[in-house]
Amino acid sequence: MASKNRFLVRNPEKGDLNQYWYSKGTIEALVLEVVEFGGEGTAFLSTPSIYFSTPAEIRQKCKVFDIDTAWKKDPGFVYFDFNKLDDVPADLHGTFAMVVIDPPFIMREVWEAYAMATAARLLLQPGGKILATTIAENEELMAELLDVKPCVFKPSIPHLVYQYKLYTNYDSPNLNQRNPEIPEDHDGA
Ligand SMILES: C[S@@+](CC[C@H](N)C(=O)[O-])C[C@H]1O[C@@H](n2cnc3c(N)ncnc32)[C@H](O)[C@@H]1O
Repeated sequence: MASKNRFLVRNPEKGDLNQYWYSKGTIEALVLEVVEFGGEGTAFLSTPSIYFSTPAEIRQKCKVFDIDTAWKKDPGFVYFDFNKLDDVPADLHGTFAMVVIDPPFIMREVWEAYAMATAARLLLQPGGKILATTIAENEELMAELLDVKPCVFKPSIPHLVYQYKLYTNYDSPNLNQRNPEIPEDHDGA
């Protein structure tokens, strides 16, 4: 039997926090991306499944920013409410090589919060990498706020009704390929 993802097994999704986890296969693909491009330090903004699935030697240089205190004992956990960006610790500003973002909502106001203080611009080093997921209809918004473009690879989020796209501000050979988890008629490729 194929091995299970420990994070997915241990953390049932909480509806009140809009928790929709990526599939095991998508987690594995995004972890590879972090290992390749964010190994010097990645901020996982509302993307705990990727943080907790990243190899320990890299994870120790990373932080997971989330409102769910279930993970507060983890040394990389930073309590984060996108409505309270002033609370992001100053010593973390501008320190990350990469940010990985999947907010609990898809609307403009929420993406403005994640982009602005963002988490991305606030936490990211100059020239840092951005990897974000949201709906296809947000393509223009994502370009405007974060200067990111959609990849061929689309994430699988099994309990979400929308098919998300994955957006980056850099070219990634791995993400230039279809995700075999997504049926071609949903893929638009
Ligand atoms: C749609 S899920 C994204 C999870 C991601 N797909 C993954 O597999 O790791 C939204 C995430 O935002 C977190 N969240 C909910 N409300 C939040 C808030 N006000 N500020 C920051 N994070 C929040 C949830 O706990 C959850 O981890």
